[in-house]
Amino acid sequence: MRRLKPDRLPRHLAIIMDGNGRWAKQRMLQRIVGHQKGVETVRMIVEECSKVGIAYLTLFAFSSENWLRPKTEVQALMALLKKYIRSEVPRMMQNNVRFAVIGNRHELPQGVNKEIDEAIATTSGNSGMQLTLALSYGSRREILGAVSRIAADATAGKIDPSNLDEKLFAGYLYTDGIPDPDLLIRTSGEMRISNFLLWQLAYTELYFTDVNWPDFDSLQLYKALKDYQDRERRFGLTSEQLRSGK
Ligand code: IPE
Ligand code: IPE
Ligand code: MG
Repeated sequence: MRRLKPDRLPRHLAIIMDGNGRWAKQRMLQRIVGHQKGVETVRMIVEECSKVGIAYLTLFAFSSENWLRPKTEVQALMALLKKYIRSEVPRMMQNNVRFAVIGNRHELPQGVNKEIDEAIATTSGNSGMQLTLALSYGSRREILGAVSRIAADATAGKIDPSNLDEKLFAGYLYTDGIPDPDLLIRTSGEMRISNFLLWQLAYTELYFTDVNWPDFDSLQLYKALKDYQDRERRFGLTSEQLRSGK
């Protein structure tokens, strides 16, 4: 990571970790073995990102649509998740990482929620990178939930609908307090968003790689960050405007 420019790092990196199943299939292994291997990648990437100086890392680990997968896979994923969160807390403490979750937590098994609560409480005082797992997360539902709470607050007279702006709206999303992602990485060659952070990704730089998540390593991370650093984010302006600062 030596050649990265520290002043041009994404403040918030989001990753759609995809391709565990295909990684396993290519090796004639069960899908769950791919998920297990994927957890090892998560460990390494979390550590690497916190060392490099990423402030927010958000990992899409389980979507609201993933509940429709075969029951055995869902159960195995939940068991893996519980084990991962529990075993990672000491490492989060070592790396000064703060743990958070976005998504519909009510749908998660009690055992998983218990580990989440403990991990959040234990790491809440850490001032380093914030690691956010998106669990049972679906962006359209997140947006609908926000709209419905805004409507309720307006009816109750808590907010004035004519004051509704992007900032107020964003405050009703799960990601309240987290800046929008600067860079989104998706592994495994799929070029879609799959209902992830639809509102928040409005001006995010997108990076797709064919590498399956279990094979994603620090060199791949470096390549993505380097690619990001060589881009010009214009936010609708012209290149000349950006260069002259006007
Ligand atoms: C990503 O890998 C992990 C989850 C969605 C839980 P997949 O399980 O989607 O792997 P592929 O896409 O089938 O290869
Ligand atoms: C997106 O991957 C969700 C996660 C990585 C957790 P999927 O594998 O579920 O997405 P699709 O079905 O290929 O769009
Ligand atoms: Mg997939």
